[in-house]
Amino acid sequence: MSRTRVHNFSISLDGFATGEPQSAEAPFGHAGQRLHTWMMATRFWDPSGSDGVDHAFAQRHSDGIGAEIMGAHKFGPPGWQDDPDWTGWWGENPPFHTPVFVLTHRPRSSIELDGGTTFHFLDASPDHALAVAREAAGDLDVRIGGGPSMLRDFLAADLIDHLHLVVVPIVLGRGVRLWDGLEGIESGFEVESVSSPSGVTHLTFTRVRS
Ligand SMILES: NC(=O)c1ccc[n+]([C@@H]2O[C@H](COP(=O)([O-])OP(=O)(O)OC[C@H]3O[C@@H](n4cnc5c(N)ncnc54)[C@H](OP(=O)(O)O)[C@@H]3O)[C@@H](O)[C@H]2O)c1
Repeated sequence: MSRTRVHNFSISLDGFATGEPQSAEAPFGHAGQRLHTWMMATRFWDPSGSDGVDHAFAQRHSDGIGAEIMGAHKFGPPGWQDDPDWTGWWGENPPFHTPVFVLTHRPRSSIELDGGTTFHFLDASPDHALAVAREAAGDLDVRIGGGPSMLRDFLAADLIDHLHLVVVPIVLGRGVRLWDGLEGIESGFEVESVSSPSGVTHLTFTRVRS
């Protein structure tokens, strides 16, 4: 059975996965790039980057993944549904290289881009979206790409098998939180943590299946 995995999902010390307000100029609002500075410093992101603990975690992002599901606000800034030319933040060759299912209440026709990425748009429950993505992924795993609102829904529905979180030592104070409404969620997982010399802490939550 293919698994559902989350990778490189970064939150501040106070639990925010993005700042505010989101716009075309500021995809993460007032957080800027601060949640992902750790990742951009690795060889996973930049060929001249570091090759240590952070790289070891970061590069797991793509291994064995056959499809991604993401939320509408990861795909674009507010109002992208009104722009017929919007194809995501990532240009002609997005870094997914698989089918990507974008959850939105205003679906549109699929967009095929270079490098094997095709964006499909779905208005569907997490369960149904996962069934569709699993079908597309074949024997491979499905990555749940975030943002925090849709990831929270997938966690609440008990649909996540493996969650790699990165706690970044910044206090954002505002934005969109991951944990709201998920009290006690850790009890269903084996939790491990590794501190990196860069200052971030990598946490893995691996589902315990009875
Ligand atoms: N920290 C990280 O590692 C990380 C990772 C990924 C993304 N992000 C950031 O997180 C932010 C986006 O997160 P977010 O929490 O604001 O939003 P999000 O989770 O990306 O998207 C939520 C939106 O997706 C649509 N949606 C969700 N579930 C749906 C369903 N079942 N059916 C139909 N539509 C559904 C709805 O949009 P509509 O009603 O408008 O269609 C909903 O408002 C961005 O700034 C992004 O850059 C951070």
